[in-house]
Amino acid sequence: MPPAKHPQAIQEIIRDNRLFELLHEGLKASDPCDPALLDRLLQYTNAYITYHALGPEQVTGYYRDYIKEYNRDVKAFMREGEYPLERDPQREMPGRQAYSIILLLSTLLTAHRFRIMQLICEQTEAMEHGLFIGCGPGIEIELVKGKAQGLTAYDLDIDPFLSHAHPSVDFRNTFFDGSGETRYDTIYLIEILEHLSDPLALLESCKKVLAPNGRLHLTTATNLPQFDHRYNFEPSHEAFEAQLGGMGFETRFKEDIEHAYMTTDIEARNRYYVLGSSGSCAD
Ligand SMILES: C[S@@+](CC[C@H](N)C(=O)[O-])C[C@H]1O[C@@H](n2cnc3c(N)ncnc32)[C@H](O)[C@@H]1O
Repeated sequence: MPPAKHPQAIQEIIRDNRLFELLHEGLKASDPCDPALLDRLLQYTNAYITYHALGPEQVTGYYRDYIKEYNRDVKAFMREGEYPLERDPQREMPGRQAYSIILLLSTLLTAHRFRIMQLICEQTEAMEHGLFIGCGPGIEIELVKGKAQGLTAYDLDIDPFLSHAHPSVDFRNTFFDGSGETRYDTIYLIEILEHLSDPLALLESCKKVLAPNGRLHLTTATNLPQFDHRYNFEPSHEAFEAQLGGMGFETRFKEDIEHAYMTTDIEARNRYYVLGSSGSCAD
């Protein structure tokens, strides 16, 4: 399929599904929306769909199943205060393709995820070497790669699309433990910390490899009972920020990103931080 048709493909899928259309129109009418970024996200999603030759039923099915499950998990969280993996440690997970589609479509259908993408763009400065941990379908790589000389990206389940879309990036299908001599001037932990039972251990590893004047972008998640979340960040983040300080991090930027639900309110939110090392130059 020629590239010019790509945006149309996902737009058609969205247009043909009433719920997706409502969500997408809501995002377009929301505050953070900017058409140029939306277009980049549409194009990237289409490149993914084309690479994996996914039909509209597959794409729609992956996301619809996710919404259904999430709604059930929200109700259980309201009743019992537990995340899905606490209720059922054997919980079945979506495969890589389904997960990647969920992540990509959510940038087109939800204002909170769109805002995270926007902050990645706004808060990223020119860099020598960047590091991504938990890169998923690689959307954040797509958004910042023009500002970097070299990029390395980790995920425990590397999507084959990544090497096709980003041939110059060094992908590692393994856990990041902070070893090695390379120092990174920008590190991205986007929607990954809540997947770990010990998020601070990963932050310690990142601290070891962050260049002296480097910037660490991270998001946290509060009251987000998604199928694979293990850690619920306290709403105030007071203890978390004290721990960051103790590790030698300083906050350079932060923003709360609320989630809008149609029917329920569990005060779900993300927080986006940009950290630097204490005592190093703020930019
Ligand atoms: C919610 S997704 C976020 C993906 C991407 N950052 C984004 O925002 O689109 C979390 C990703 O982290 C990966 N992951 C989970 N645990 C991990 C770990 N310990 N190390 C590296 N990646 C991990 C998953 O495979 C998944 O792709």
